[in-house]
Amino acid sequence: MEIIIQKNPAAAAEIAARIVARLLRKKPNAVLGLATGATPLLLYKMLAEMNLDWRRVATFNLDEYVGLPPEHPQSYHQFMWENFFRRVNVAKKNVHIPDGMARDVPKFCSQYEKEIRAAGGIDLQVLGIGGDGHVGFNEPASSLASRTRIKTLTRRTRRDNARFFSGEDEVPRHCITMGIGTIMEARQCLLLAFGHRKARAVAGAVEGPVTAMNPASILQMHPAVKVCLDEPAAARLKRARYYRWVYANKPDWQK
Ligand code: F6R
Repeated sequence: MEIIIQKNPAAAAEIAARIVARLLRKKPNAVLGLATGATPLLLYKMLAEMNLDWRRVATFNLDEYVGLPPEHPQSYHQFMWENFFRRVNVAKKNVHIPDGMARDVPKFCSQYEKEIRAAGGIDLQVLGIGGDGHVGFNEPASSLASRTRIKTLTRRTRRDNARFFSGEDEVPRHCITMGIGTIMEARQCLLLAFGHRKARAVAGAVEGPVTAMNPASILQMHPAVKVCLDEPAAARLKRARYYRWVYANKPDWQK
């Protein structure tokens, strides 16, 4: 894991945007895994302002609420089009977001997995992290080998996400999410976390034991993960000084 600690979210998101931009310039038909939520908003804004060609890029989103149609204002379909896709020249046919209205959920989920494989697998997966360590909507105690499937959201996640709805009761109880096994197959992962509310989950994910109780901790077993943090999100890391030192002293060829 490479832990990159920056003063504020903008500085951390800028590094993340440069990583994505470098991939797209090198591989114009890259396959990106994307997240929703507050965390990647700055990254999406910065990417939209860069001069990048998205025509051949394919995207797969991590998750969607069950029961929300794509046109629902709080659906992740709306979120992605509103906050990102409408601002870049991505081709609609290359955008994949789980269908929260799928009639046959298990069938849809296995089809989603097939589509990821057919696209050549995910080159880079963007991730946020929940205050309880969830990635995608893989809540604590999710199987670390899980694939795309239906999950029940925890009370905490529904409470956290209630700010986007008119109240907690409006937040759907179920979602479709890529599994942890699905995420782990991405060739590279880029986890972003900002704010003190994420500090405990980040410390557990980076320095704690690998445990299903902090699903993000499985990323310790992934060969290519970058973690972009602001200072408050990094506040509980025991080895923060070392991570800063490593980043500041990279050999030239690695910068
Ligand atoms: C959303 C997702 C979730 C969020 C997490 C953090 O697609 O995968 O894991 O990344 O809930 O959400 P924010 O960024 O709103 O704090």
